[in-house]
Amino acid sequence: MLARMAYSLGGGIVSRVVVVSALFAFILISPVSWADDIEDGKNIFNGPAGCQSCHKITDKKSVGTGLAGNAGIHTDAWLLKWLNDPQTTWEENDRETQDLRKRVGKPNEPRTAMKKRKILAEGDLRALIAYLKSL
Ligand code: HEC
Repeated sequence: MLARMAYSLGGGIVSRVVVVSALFAFILISPVSWADDIEDGKNIFNGPAGCQSCHKITDKKSVGTGLAGNAGIHTDAWLLKWLNDPQTTWEENDRETQDLRKRVGKPNEPRTAMKKRKILAEGDLRALIAYLKSL
């Protein structure tokens, strides 16, 4: 009797954990949070991160490259690395960075003109990438 109670209690906890994790997984991948991210990313881009002072969201160049369709040529991992620390990414000079250097005509330039944005937390970066991918 006791064993059966303990078993059903245990089973209850296990299934509750399963339900709660499934719910979290759903929240993480749900389109609603993706849309929110895009909206947040847009506000960060035009607001505190100051991206718009150097980048147009069309394909026209300003100080930096025009960003329309640009995220499509980069992996999320590269974008995360770049936004987190442009100069280190520039120096590492992986294949995607070599391509960027070629496009902006700076194959041998030691420094990128894009400064590290201090205010960006991880959630901001995720939102910014979602926004860049929507352009
Ligand atoms: C001071 C000007 C400046 C600011 C501010 C700036 N960038 Fe840049 N960004 C550049 C330049 C310039 C490049 C191209 C590399 C170079 O010429 O040094 C670049 C490159 C990029 C690239 C790669 C583009 C490609 O064509 O592959 C992305 C993506 C990007 N920036 C996003 C952002 C985002 C998002 C922000 C805001 C968090 C931002 N940038 C803020 C100047 C800037």
